Amino acid sequence: MRKTFPLRFEWEIVHIRSEAREMAREIGFDELDQARIVQSISELARNVIEHAEEGTITICAVEEEGKKGIRIQVRDTGPGIPKFEELVSRGQRQNIGETSGLQHVNRLMDELTSVPVEEGTCVEATKWLKPSKQILE
Ligand SMILES: Nc1ncnc2c1ncn2[C@@H]1O[C@H](COP(=O)(O)OP(=O)(O)OP(=O)(O)O)[C@@H](O)[C@H]1O
Ligand SMILES: [Mg+2]
Repeated sequence: MRKTFPLRFEWEIVHIRSEAREMAREIGFDELDQARIVQSISELARNVIEHAEEGTITICAVEEEGKKGIRIQVRDTGPGIPKFEELVSRGQRQNIGETSGLQHVNRLMDELTSVPVEEGTCVEATKWLKPSKQILE
């Protein structure tokens, strides 16, 4: 299960959100986690539009080391995110409410990483199903 969406205009986020919600539901995420995933997509998409103009979002089901989850990969050809690790880890020490978009995504998802690319930005956010919901074929 893998879908890629172009991203340039804010109104496109509505469609990406509903597709992502459906994929998350199919993978087995409950409504609360679906909301967390969809909220993360909004933040990452808004960053592309606000800080880089345009990009793509790929949403896919992942299975690693016996775990099942969902991964959001956001790419753009903008200026890149300076001090990504520092920004995200700073958020871990702050109280909720003071957090910026990326720091919020870091709380909502299980993993948030910046993948090195030649030009622009590639950010990956992953959420795993809770062990009780993991049913692997
Ligand atoms: N896709 C991107 N391309 C380039 N720079 C980015 C991108 N995403 C984020 N940034 C940089 O990282 C900073 C932090 O992003 P973050 O989403 O955490 O906060 P914000 O977008 O400034 O504010 P908000 O809390 O409204 O999201 C931004 O101010 C911007 O400088
Ligand atoms: Mg932001």
